[in-house]
Amino acid sequence: MRHLLEVDDLTTDELWRVLHLAADPAPPRVLEGKGMALVFEKPSTRTRNSMEMAVFQLGGHPVYIQAAEVGLDARESVEDVTRTLASYHACVGARTFAHATVERMAAEDLVPGVNMLSDAAHPLQALADVLTLLQEFSGPDAAEWPTTASEGLAGRSMAYVGDGNNVFRSLALAAGMLGAEVRFAGPNGYRLPDADRDRLAAAGVSITETDLAAEAVAGVDAVYTDVWTSMGQEEESARRLVDFEAFRVDEALMAAAGPQAVFLHCLPAHRGEEVTDGVVDGPASRVWPQAANRMHAARGLLAWLLGEGFPEGGEAP
Ligand code: CP
Ligand code: NVA
Repeated sequence: MRHLLEVDDLTTDELWRVLHLAADPAPPRVLEGKGMALVFEKPSTRTRNSMEMAVFQLGGHPVYIQAAEVGLDARESVEDVTRTLASYHACVGARTFAHATVERMAAEDLVPGVNMLSDAAHPLQALADVLTLLQEFSGPDAAEWPTTASEGLAGRSMAYVGDGNNVFRSLALAAGMLGAEVRFAGPNGYRLPDADRDRLAAAGVSITETDLAAEAVAGVDAVYTDVWTSMGQEEESARRLVDFEAFRVDEALMAAAGPQAVFLHCLPAHRGEEVTDGVVDGPASRVWPQAANRMHAARGLLAWLLGEGFPEGGEAP
């Protein structure tokens, strides 16, 4: 039984296969007549809608569940909720605060589990991000991409400017596994801890870090940012506004990157904080194809998880 809690739950070759399935508008309908439970502890626009549509496109039926309704560890334990959902659904996805919650769900090992964002990771976003970069640099059709996974983004560079958070952690893994150079610029105190750098290294990924945004972005192919205050960190917002002031992606920073650089953001954007209107709405921005790719990436991931990735290449229950 395979689960996707973080990008490195896939090997590099499996990641490459998932991306090919994502670029296929009609992969095998592995959810025909089956359900997927989508449990949300936090709000969502892209993740809920892209997952619901991906499940539908694979022949399945998505059921949206607010965590407060099932009462994770309040009405009943996370494990008992998971066991119950797994008796109706071929797959269970969850968006949680604690990463341990998605780990506990997956530990039941009854049906494949998908992390739809936790405080630690956002692998579905990273799949869409690298899909967007591949299409930008090599073409919309997978037949135009490099032939091997490790060459996928080789020779390309990306600078992530801002908070070393769930989005950056997953993105660094995905982009790095495909051979991209990954740079990070953010204030002290908001960088990935050593344990994460060890995990990246285990996946063959190294990142370079600087506290100068202009230095990080110089000459890169893509500039990426995310909100300074993630969901659940609202009480830290005032402090973060001060700490991240030098890490806004504005027109001057994009100019420092160079005319070749595209701009990515997982969205939602806090316009005027981590990014200006002029960049989100400007010519370098690829945020809308990136958002659209959430559905294609989700469909590719589910097609793999419940198809080829299922034990012995079998079919989900
Ligand atoms: N990027 C992303 O996960 O968006 P939502 O929070 O709207 O799902
Ligand atoms: N880092 C953000 C991403 C939202 C999609 C958060 O966790 O709120």
